[in-house]
Amino acid sequence: MPPTTSKPRILTGDTPTSTGLHLGHFVGSLENRLRLQDDYDCYFLIANVHAFTTLADKPDQIRANTLGIVKDWLAVGLDPDRSTFVLQSEVPAIAELTFVFAMLLPFNKVMRNPTLKTEIDTKGLGDTYSFGFPMYAVGQCADILAFRPELVPVGEDQEAHIEMCRDVALKFNQLYCGVNNRTLPDDHHKSGGVFPVPKAKIGRVARLAGTDGVNKMSKSLGNAIFLYDSEKDVQKKINKITVQPDPETKLVPQSHVLLQYCDAFLPKNRAEAIRADYAAGKDVMHGHIKAELGAAINTLLTPIRERRAKLEATPDGGDAVVQDVIRQGVKKANAVAEETLYLAKKAMKVDFGGRTFA
Ligand code: TRP
Repeated sequence: MPPTTSKPRILTGDTPTSTGLHLGHFVGSLENRLRLQDDYDCYFLIANVHAFTTLADKPDQIRANTLGIVKDWLAVGLDPDRSTFVLQSEVPAIAELTFVFAMLLPFNKVMRNPTLKTEIDTKGLGDTYSFGFPMYAVGQCADILAFRPELVPVGEDQEAHIEMCRDVALKFNQLYCGVNNRTLPDDHHKSGGVFPVPKAKIGRVARLAGTDGVNKMSKSLGNAIFLYDSEKDVQKKINKITVQPDPETKLVPQSHVLLQYCDAFLPKNRAEAIRADYAAGKDVMHGHIKAELGAAINTLLTPIRERRAKLEATPDGGDAVVQDVIRQGVKKANAVAEETLYLAKKAMKVDFGGRTFA
């Protein structure tokens, strides 16, 4: 039986499509995870199977990215002794639930999912993406529901996925657990539903723009500041941000990325003062603001960088430690996910036995 704890559960995760996490991940979700580790029973998932939906021909890269992201988690302060690290490919119940959940979602609704649509655009997938690509959104419902969490800390871009996940939970509980269709989502679990209907918890900064000032920060767009970037690289990337006043108003718009970063990384009163200066059209020295921002971001990243360097200061670059952490998490993750699968199969009346669940 899975270890019992009275703490409510959360689940969230990252897809190892890049070598490491960036500031967008930090303010969008990692910060929340750190804060929630004490009060919640936390599950942090590394979606390595999902990475194959766009990188099927790059298994080595996915493996390296997987190790890199777990190193980032450890460096940031996610604690495998308090929280459970879940490697998706080691939890078969997730794949089994994905197939079941695919039957509960209208195909067209999945294809209209705005997060998927944006990804198809920004990654230039055209119409050549695999069948598995949109399927990952269904898989994400299974990632979440396998752990029956109450909260899912994510960035704003993931909201459509969480909404789909809520739809799946509602539908499952109604179809197979006798929950009335007038029952409020929050009451589903106590009314006999297998799945609590989880809520998204959006980070302090819902969407962090990249250094290009246009798109969401993302490795594939080359506009990201990574947690592992050196002090120099951080400052260089900030310095490259262009600050041009609007030709008509002659003012730098309040929505400008530099001002977004001031809000995100400088003390509140300082960010407000800078905003006021820009709004009043004062002769603001962009260079000084950039130096101040670079320093603030580096203050945030220095301890993370140091912890990562320490972890990597072995001949194998810390890989063995990460493997142990993964093994430790997989055990607990499977205990919980297998219990969920057992409950789901019973509700669906396909519990004919023969298989022993953990
Ligand atoms: N799709 C998420 C991202 O790209 C990562 C992810 C996979 C996830 N499974 C999840 C996030 C489950 C929250 C819950 O950031």
